[in-house]
Amino acid sequence: MKKKVIIANWKMNHDFYETTSYLRNLLKIIYENKIHHKKKIIIAPSFPFLHISNQILQGTTLSIAAQNIHQMENGSYTGEVSASMLRSIGIKKVILGHSERRKYFTETNDILIKKIKISLKYGFHIIFCIGETGIDRKKEEHFFTVKKQLEKTIFHFSLEKINSFIIAYEPIWAIGTGNTASPEVVQLMHQYIRSLFLNKYGETVSNDLSILYGGSINDMNARDLFLQKDIDGGLVGNSSLQMKNFLKIIQS
Ligand code: PGA
Repeated sequence: MKKKVIIANWKMNHDFYETTSYLRNLLKIIYENKIHHKKKIIIAPSFPFLHISNQILQGTTLSIAAQNIHQMENGSYTGEVSASMLRSIGIKKVILGHSERRKYFTETNDILIKKIKISLKYGFHIIFCIGETGIDRKKEEHFFTVKKQLEKTIFHFSLEKINSFIIAYEPIWAIGTGNTASPEVVQLMHQYIRSLFLNKYGETVSNDLSILYGGSINDMNARDLFLQKDIDGGLVGNSSLQMKNFLKIIQS
């Protein structure tokens, strides 16, 4: 049985004190309630707190992910953070392809390929986000959009690299809007995504692949989503900011 993966994407939220106290409290409750073996829990805080966060979770079953990585090795890219810098503080996971980065920081598929390459070179596990816009869905082009996103990014990589990926299906119309996609809608898309991996890489890869859902997950809808056959967990934004809510989602 694959373990469910629950990721908290804090985006540009939580200062030093909020980050460290959240993590210490979360750890305590998760271990007291013995849920640390049952789920894979990953937290993605902001860059300045990755080091301390990683130290707090050291030796536990929880882990830390970065929210971004720059596509170049190093050099004159003011304000950017490289893969080797993150590895030097022990970070081994990164979120790439998030729709907010595609939209506000114009991350194209070509840039994403470079980001994937450098992340793989430094041994990162990649949580890769894909998902259609509301317009795509209205036009019934959602399957096509998702297929194209995969073909133009991950599908450039060979079979041996694919176990470094977790897919997060995040329909853009559902992110931060309160409009969660229904479990049936998500299940259909996840089944489709798995079939694309089956055709491209074969049965073992497609069976082993974790496909998470993201987009207005909360403690009320998480359980029904996670019960679906092809939903292997969630990428949680807003509802991960309060520890109480996030814990309820983990326990769903
Ligand atoms: P949300 O964000 O849960 O606030 O919709 C999800 C995400 O952007 O990963």
